[in-house]
Amino acid sequence: MADALAAPLLRWFAEHGRHDLPWQTPATPYRVWVSEIMLQQTQVSTVIPYFERFMAAFPTLADLAMAPLDAVLSHWAGLGYYARAHRLHACADIVLRQYGGEFPATLAKLIALPGIGRSTAGAIRALGQGADGVILDGNVRRVLARYHALPLDARSSPAEKLLWGWAHEHTPHDRAGAYAQAIMDLGATLCKPYQPECPRCPLKEDCQAYRRADVTAYPRKRIRQERAIRQRQALLIHDAQGRIWLQRRPNRGLWAGLFSWPECEAAEQDLRAWLEHHALAPATLEKAGSLQHDFTHYRLHLQLWTLAAPTFVAEKPGIWYAYGAEKPALPAPVERYLEESWSPTCPLW
Ligand code: ADE
Repeated sequence: MADALAAPLLRWFAEHGRHDLPWQTPATPYRVWVSEIMLQQTQVSTVIPYFERFMAAFPTLADLAMAPLDAVLSHWAGLGYYARAHRLHACADIVLRQYGGEFPATLAKLIALPGIGRSTAGAIRALGQGADGVILDGNVRRVLARYHALPLDARSSPAEKLLWGWAHEHTPHDRAGAYAQAIMDLGATLCKPYQPECPRCPLKEDCQAYRRADVTAYPRKRIRQERAIRQRQALLIHDAQGRIWLQRRPNRGLWAGLFSWPECEAAEQDLRAWLEHHALAPATLEKAGSLQHDFTHYRLHLQLWTLAAPTFVAEKPGIWYAYGAEKPALPAPVERYLEESWSPTCPLW
């Protein structure tokens, strides 16, 4: 049975969607992947000339993998967020060496590659591999939050679960590529953040936010409320080869079973004593920024510290994680921090 969102959306797309974007012809996995990474933080109109020059310089994944990093960075100059270019190059190298130059065919293997999150992997599958891929980028979040009048802060983790659930539910298995492009196009051209053009929208009849005449109230922003604050110290322990230590968290509790940096509850001024107690010489201890993450009942403040520990002996199971290696299962804020702050030319220490 045709989905009530997908059916009118696909009819609208046939006439009003974007069918002449440069990465659509031919829509190979390689071209789709490069375009998706460029489009992560940059608008389509800016990306187009960069994409065309990039493809002229690196027509295949092997060309990109074998090019010197400097050549890749110089084609990225002006696009910003250079960690994307570092990861693109690292990813091309892995795909060439590990998969013979073809992007792997499973979602899990795509997500394990540097720079590829769940939505980008879905886009590669749907748009580039003709497979059943599901996307949830910023435009799609807005369309779905409005269509369903999502009653939660769209950045909260319960909202995230609902949004991914809807994204799966509405994606037609046999037309995942057209659907992915259609819902992105709707978000970019009609269902815009500030001046949505609802009268022209193919979904207005069933759009719950439109029915409430309150479209721009969605996606809902965080409702500010006082939360208890938990302060923790996080240790980015690195060895002589520049790898960092990630240990497996207990099977119960927060981030159960995921890999993360060691944390300690000691206050900042007690950290050195705590390290000595754990046989870690604090001589190289340095502050490396901080991050915060909101859970339902509290806000976690993590103060990050780097620490060279060439002779570190682990007390718990874990791994030495090298840049560009396959990612273990990481909590979202840890993954985000590593993705945004770590590249081969910008180490964490
Ligand atoms: N943003 C991310 N992917 C896109 C695509 N394929 N077309 C237009 N905008 C996009």
